[in-house]
Amino acid sequence: MRDSADTPDLPALLLDWYDRNARTMPWRTSPADRRKGVRPDPYRVWLSEVMLQQTTVAAVRDYFTRFTARWPTVRDLAAAADADVMAEWAGLGYYARARNLLSCARAVVDLHGGAFPTTRETLLTLPGIGPYTAAAIASIAYDEPATVVDGNVERVISRLRLVTDPLPASKPELTRLAAELTPLARAGDYAQAIMDLGATICTPRSPACGICPWRTPCAARAEGVAATLPRKTSKAAKPVREGTLWIARTPAGDWLLERRPDRGLLGGMLGFPGTAWDGAGGPAPADAAWQTVGEVRHTFTHFHLILTVQTATLPAGTNPTRGEWHPATTFRPADLPTVMRKAYDLTAASGST
Ligand code: ADE
Repeated sequence: MRDSADTPDLPALLLDWYDRNARTMPWRTSPADRRKGVRPDPYRVWLSEVMLQQTTVAAVRDYFTRFTARWPTVRDLAAAADADVMAEWAGLGYYARARNLLSCARAVVDLHGGAFPTTRETLLTLPGIGPYTAAAIASIAYDEPATVVDGNVERVISRLRLVTDPLPASKPELTRLAAELTPLARAGDYAQAIMDLGATICTPRSPACGICPWRTPCAARAEGVAATLPRKTSKAAKPVREGTLWIARTPAGDWLLERRPDRGLLGGMLGFPGTAWDGAGGPAPADAAWQTVGEVRHTFTHFHLILTVQTATLPAGTNPTRGEWHPATTFRPADLPTVMRKAYDLTAASGST
């Protein structure tokens, strides 16, 4: 597959590979269906791309299936109760994405008549849609030749073009090199193809260069250094933060839960009341004989967290200073963010509530 200048047609090589190897995903329109004229649903493309920010395809599949079963269109999602959406999102992490998801759905309905904008420029005006997501929706849903650059694409391009400067400083150069390759035709398939290549063949530690459609033009492979790229400037070690969580129940089995403020970590999510995580302490929700059941550990983007978990059964009629009682019949541990779920699991395993 060569053009007149006798250089390989890189997009054609990749698209040809994708035609044979595209992964099946619940939000994806296969290359065969696209050729038949099937158009992807922009709502599903948008929802999947927001879920996939910072999260793997494997983790997203079930969430995507549940969301689209419950809210099949952007109008359904826009009309949902905030608490229901936050509860369905529980466990996916980066909860600002869920709040932005709702704001975006409502903006699409209120400002765009329920139809997703079709250009990258207008998509960028919506809540929670940054350069990556705008390019992904514009290309995948509308075949606009927008360049999509995620971690997979950075890895593929750094190897193909032997970019040895470390990330994040090399990002503008990688974006420029990626843009040079983006074809005018089949832009949506191409965007998904390069991400699939990074996820399945051009993997971080042991790339399968022998079966790569770009093995011949790949400059890093020629030098034998593919697995060492991209280089990354080493990050500062994450600090450790600590705090306490209080898990209280009534004799009837109700749970004391508190909705976290919209801004900040786990914003808008339901959880157990606790201290601040910066050592500043915080008031327990009631005077009680709190029993320590153990510790849970969780790692966020910028720090490790260690929480001491304490439990107590508060007398019937106790009016806590924080949080609200939730009947055992409506409390669903699956609605908790992961760190709170770990505390729940610890308590359940200890048999202390
Ligand atoms: N990662 C994020 N979006 C993706 C997509 N549409 N296809 C493959 N991998 C992805």
